[in-house]
Amino acid sequence: MSVKRIGVLTSGGDAPGMNACVRSVVRTALYHGIECYGIRRGYNGLITGDIIKLDEKNVSHTINRGGTILYTARSKEFLNEEGQKKAVSTCKFLGLDSIIAIGGDGTFRGARALSKWGINVVCIPATIDNDISCTNYSIGFDTAANTAIDCIDKLRDTMQSHERCSVVEVMGRNAGFLAMYVGLAVGATAVLVPEKEIDFERDVIEKIRAARFNGFTHYMIVVAEGAGSAADIANKIKDSIDLDPRVTVLGHIQRGGTPSGRDRVNATKMGYLAVELLLAGKTNRIVCTKAGTFTDVDIDEALQMQKHIQSMEVDVMAAMTGI
Ligand code: F6P
Repeated sequence: MSVKRIGVLTSGGDAPGMNACVRSVVRTALYHGIECYGIRRGYNGLITGDIIKLDEKNVSHTINRGGTILYTARSKEFLNEEGQKKAVSTCKFLGLDSIIAIGGDGTFRGARALSKWGINVVCIPATIDNDISCTNYSIGFDTAANTAIDCIDKLRDTMQSHERCSVVEVMGRNAGFLAMYVGLAVGATAVLVPEKEIDFERDVIEKIRAARFNGFTHYMIVVAEGAGSAADIANKIKDSIDLDPRVTVLGHIQRGGTPSGRDRVNATKMGYLAVELLLAGKTNRIVCTKAGTFTDVDIDEALQMQKHIQSMEVDVMAAMTGI
């Protein structure tokens, strides 16, 4: 399989480090004498031909920037065969033999569709949710976690002064990986995640009582958005115990900002590996991390996999919260 012209796109929710990854794809491609094109607005760009040639200059000074210079979208049109045919004709028209798609599960499904139409594809996991089953790490998680930790540390100062309870809602869609990690890092009183059935009395009220018994006068409850709304949890706390909690929904603030060193370096390595995989004749693959090393996995296999919150994180959290 010969690789002459690579298209790169970002799709789904953006994640800090996507730019570092695009930069790495472009630089690695150019290093090997391969042309590189940026497809804008996710798969929509392939359908409408919203494509720009990328060189060293387009990607310089982007490694430190959050968001994605290629813009992103969740393309509805690409979900049907008509949209996919249009995208494939764009690839043929421009001579794009290979596509590198950066994003989450939806992005991988899109790439798999392209692969069935004969385009070489390699994907790179990027989502702050870190919910992609085939990989321990996805680009953006580290920065988003650090942003949430920083915000919650600030909240703690004022909760401590006023001896209050704070209920903080963390992103993650249907997954609690971000909330659990952040909860461990901020020393939360309780963490609620969708993967664990919630007994409100046991998981929230008893934890607050245990903290109070140990001399604490302020409490930090971290809720994954998939486990319920912070406002509802706060109301239930108010109804159950003599506290008047304050609610903070961190929202999209978690998706922005300068990528951390870890996100920049991993994104750079993953971008490099994606191009190397194409050069090695591989297609329909996802670059991922497993047991501390980089590897790759077939897209179809990856989409069958399941990911669970580490039982160690759950056990440690239980020990840290005293029950
Ligand atoms: O998948 C990333 C994510 O930020 C989720 O955590 C969140 O539920 C969702 O995207 C929000 O999507 P949107 O930006 O479309 O509101």
